[in-house]
Amino acid sequence: MSGLEFTKEAAKQLEKTYLTRDVVAQRLETIRQLNLSCGESVLDIGCGPGYLCESIAEIVGRHGAVVGIDVSTDLIALCNQRKASAWLSYAVGDATQVNQADASFDVVVCTQVAEYVPDVDRGLSEAFRVLKPGGRTVFVATDWDAVVWYSENPERMALVMKSWEEHCAHPHLPRSMAYKLVNAGFRFDGAAIFPILNLQCDDDSYSKGLAQGIRDFVARKPDVSADDLSAWHGEFEHLSEAGRYFFSTNRYIFKASKPTTHTG
Ligand SMILES: C[S@@+](CC[C@H](N)C(=O)[O-])C[C@H]1O[C@@H](n2cnc3c(N)ncnc32)[C@H](O)[C@@H]1O
Repeated sequence: MSGLEFTKEAAKQLEKTYLTRDVVAQRLETIRQLNLSCGESVLDIGCGPGYLCESIAEIVGRHGAVVGIDVSTDLIALCNQRKASAWLSYAVGDATQVNQADASFDVVVCTQVAEYVPDVDRGLSEAFRVLKPGGRTVFVATDWDAVVWYSENPERMALVMKSWEEHCAHPHLPRSMAYKLVNAGFRFDGAAIFPILNLQCDDDSYSKGLAQGIRDFVARKPDVSADDLSAWHGEFEHLSEAGRYFFSTNRYIFKASKPTTHTG
């Protein structure tokens, strides 16, 4: 993984951000796109704090199975602390070397993880391998060029966001995702976007937690001075109080399936 490290502290922050109304709504949209049925087996690659796995476990029920894997031992520990269903399990694991048998899942989901995997094509091949023929997958990814974030200092905003791009291996992955899925053997079944729009920078907004994450990451690099970074971060509260805050981005949702007759 390049850039961001999902350590204990980062895991706690991620857990908080993922409970904001924006990310809860995004999760509901992902679940809608997954179109799950009772009894299905589902693998969540890069399950993070495990909220998606928990919701999926409720839908597939006791005759189904949900496995969440993540490269971060801290995040898997958090998942296990809350784990409530016997048919839900977690394991530390890498997207490029999934420790699961061939053709063992009806569904593979991977939300905002592929961006962090340097060998993303290998990750897609692994998702393909573990899916049953006829099984389906949903990948969700962010293109960091799709962020519109108002600042009275657009040059400083551009500098900070450029520096932030290095937090992941593929900051513009969505634009090549359909091609990559087909290349990995999948049948491409379409794409959709889920928009996030914040007109307030409050505790329940996705962008407030994001701003803190960006500030902490960029502070460790030489690209932006400490004063500029502090001014960049401080501006959001003022804009929000003045009713002039604006943050918007899209999540790109890709759907694909494993053909029943695979010759590759
Ligand atoms: C932005 S979080 C997304 C978490 C979760 N999928 C969600 O959307 O709620 C990215 C996650 O990818 C995990 N990750 C990064 N590289 C990975 C890899 N090579 N294999 C498995 N997980 C990985 C991180 O540990 C982190 O939990």
